[in-house]
Amino acid sequence: MKKPKVIKKKTILVPLNPNKININKLSVCAELIRKGKLVVFPTETVYGVGANALNKKAIRKIFIAKGRPVDNPLIVHVSDIEMAEKFVEEIPERVRYAMKKFWPGPITFVLKKKKCIPDEVTCGLKTVGIRVPSHKIAKKLIELSNRPIAAPSANLSGKTSPTKAKHVIQDLMGRVDAIIDGGDADVGLESTVLDVSSDIPIILRPGGITFEQIKKIFPNVKIANSFCKKPKCPGMKYKHYAPDCNFILFNGKNEKEKINKIKKERANLISKGMKVAIIGSLETRKSFKEVSDIDFFIVGTRENLNILASKIFNILRKIDSQGYDYILMGTCPSKGIGHAIMNRIEKAASKII
Ligand code: TXA
Ligand code: MG
Repeated sequence: MKKPKVIKKKTILVPLNPNKININKLSVCAELIRKGKLVVFPTETVYGVGANALNKKAIRKIFIAKGRPVDNPLIVHVSDIEMAEKFVEEIPERVRYAMKKFWPGPITFVLKKKKCIPDEVTCGLKTVGIRVPSHKIAKKLIELSNRPIAAPSANLSGKTSPTKAKHVIQDLMGRVDAIIDGGDADVGLESTVLDVSSDIPIILRPGGITFEQIKKIFPNVKIANSFCKKPKCPGMKYKHYAPDCNFILFNGKNEKEKINKIKKERANLISKGMKVAIIGSLETRKSFKEVSDIDFFIVGTRENLNILASKIFNILRKIDSQGYDYILMGTCPSKGIGHAIMNRIEKAASKII
């Protein structure tokens, strides 16, 4: 993908330890937010590129920096429910209960917005996505700037979301005013987006808080079809998270069938002179004795899909930077966090076999 044109900015890099935050350095970033500048900061899900959500001009800069389509609304980050109340119309009791249960954390609630939230943030929608992040640096930045911070993931539009500051540097250096390096994002996938603006709650994007967890509070919750023609969540219609090289996903009745399909495709590609990488679990590694350690990228175990969730975006970027022509990977069960992983990798894949 071509980088969108943008004015060359001077970007300051601000390394911070989340467990021992240097308040002076973070105050400089908070001041930038107040002045309408763009600051990239870590959250527990992925890095976000933030601006004062009440400043229209600053919001427009986010869209330019990312090359983001102008009909894809932004999530507003706040400190707590009390702060959220300033920006959304009434919060129904059940939703308040869910907020208390899941916040701070990886879930965004879509609710009717108050007028003070500019149309630039919501792209003209009457609703706004709002979230309280749990990351210490994100929380402190909101507190010090004393502003709601609108922030999409800090990648160029169409690229995988950044889980490390070095990913942000690859994409946004010279396009934003500051990048805070606060280490790796824990969850590794973006927040769940839950639309609670009407009677039936709808999961618009699966994420860190799972369908199973949400169903306990909202038994009538539905999952939106991510490729429907008129998506409720504007971001859903875009092909996201794509690595530059070909990424093929393999389906099958069981692990054995998937492994056999991958082996066959790999042999075929290698015979054509292609450089092929495989992503798999520790258990799967044993079935690929013919593949060198260099070309096999292990991401966790089958039992613990949280490791796969936290590493998948990084692995895709890493493989992409190593000149591979193809990435081959088997699907994972679409339950718990697996639902969010499948949602992202299905969108990233050029083909599913
Ligand atoms: O974990 C996250 O959510 C990260 C961190 C930085 O907080 N942010 C993030 O933002 O992933 P972004 O812009 O990459 O994705 C936001 C998603 C988009 O798919 C967008 O369409 C949807 O949320 N969204 C935002 N506001 C909405 C609204 N009012 N109605 C429906 N969907 C909305
Ligand atoms: Mg994004």
